[in-house]
Amino acid sequence: MKKPILVTGGAGFIGSHLVDLFDKDNVDYLVLDNLSAGSVKNIPIAVAQNRFVNSDVKNYQLIQELINSASCVVHLACNVGVRNVIAYPLETIETNINSLKQIAYYCSLNNIPLVFFSTSLVYSPDKERKAQFAESDQTHTLGFHPVSMYVYSKKMGELICEYFHRTMNLSYIIIRPFNMIGIRQRSDSGMVVPSFIRSAILEGEIHIFGDGKQTRTFSDVKTAVKLLWQIIQNERSYGQIFNLATTEKVTSIFELAKSITGLIDKPIKIKTKPINEVYGNNYIDIQYRSPSLKKLRNYVREWKERDISEILVEIIEYEGSHLSKID
Ligand SMILES: NC(=O)c1ccc[n+]([C@@H]2O[C@H](COP(=O)([O-])OP(=O)(O)OC[C@H]3O[C@@H](n4cnc5c(N)ncnc54)[C@H](O)[C@@H]3O)[C@@H](O)[C@H]2O)c1
Repeated sequence: MKKPILVTGGAGFIGSHLVDLFDKDNVDYLVLDNLSAGSVKNIPIAVAQNRFVNSDVKNYQLIQELINSASCVVHLACNVGVRNVIAYPLETIETNINSLKQIAYYCSLNNIPLVFFSTSLVYSPDKERKAQFAESDQTHTLGFHPVSMYVYSKKMGELICEYFHRTMNLSYIIIRPFNMIGIRQRSDSGMVVPSFIRSAILEGEIHIFGDGKQTRTFSDVKTAVKLLWQIIQNERSYGQIFNLATTEKVTSIFELAKSITGLIDKPIKIKTKPINEVYGNNYIDIQYRSPSLKKLRNYVREWKERDISEILVEIIEYEGSHLSKID
């Protein structure tokens, strides 16, 4: 019998959509999640079929046992979200770096492929050459700020994969996702789309941090996990890095807010606040972020891009029904 795919962080946002796809395609899997940000409500079938283990990736003995009996590890578990990373900086090191080091080691020992979720934040937007470096220059775009710890932990994670490949022949794929959106994403860790939608529904206001001119690409998570699964199944993908996004189209944060106001049937005010009032003096928001999907397109079948407002309507309906249940 083929061994299950171990999905760490599978009760979270992206993980639960991957689990949905696995259920639909009859792929054998096992979810490990400590539910710090995820929920069993996201993966009811996994729970009903005993495919869910409520534990932590820092439980190394258990992790080793689970990896020994897996065919592949998709490692999503991580301390993520601006607010979480600011609140628990050392947890970021423990979970994002130390646990990954152990997972990569056990995968190497057992010859199990590892799919590691990094982030698009590892890219530096500063492409200009500077002749001299001053101490006041930012060594990373997010500045001398706790959030940089998240970015560095992910960069370190990529280097850990590369290290174990070099020394123990680890078979890995590194995924760099660009702003995924869809249902089940939590607003409390600071994710922009659910935060905007929740405050629009509850308070009739949307709070933009910064001037709203900063741009992002917003990708449909349901499509993205299908692309991810094709990458995982493609032998040529191993030892490689992939941007994961379903569109190259950029949207400004102000445009996003405007679209949401147009989709909710009540008056909503858009307000702006200087970003440093929210995240502190040294926080630097990235102004422009967009992926090249040229490489990804060489590894997966063509896909149909979903319109952002179609995805937003789905999230608004989901948030609306969940908020009314809480009330
Ligand atoms: N969502 C995005 O747009 C995006 C962008 C870039 C990178 N990523 C990366 O993708 C991955 C998944 O992100 P997401 O948006 O689904 O986040 P998420 O917070 O919804 O999911 C992470 C899951 O990991 C679990 N978890 C956290 N710490 C754990 C621990 N110590 N042990 C076991 N489980 C633990 C949480 O409970 C949660 O269910 C993360 O590694 C993240 O850095 C996501």
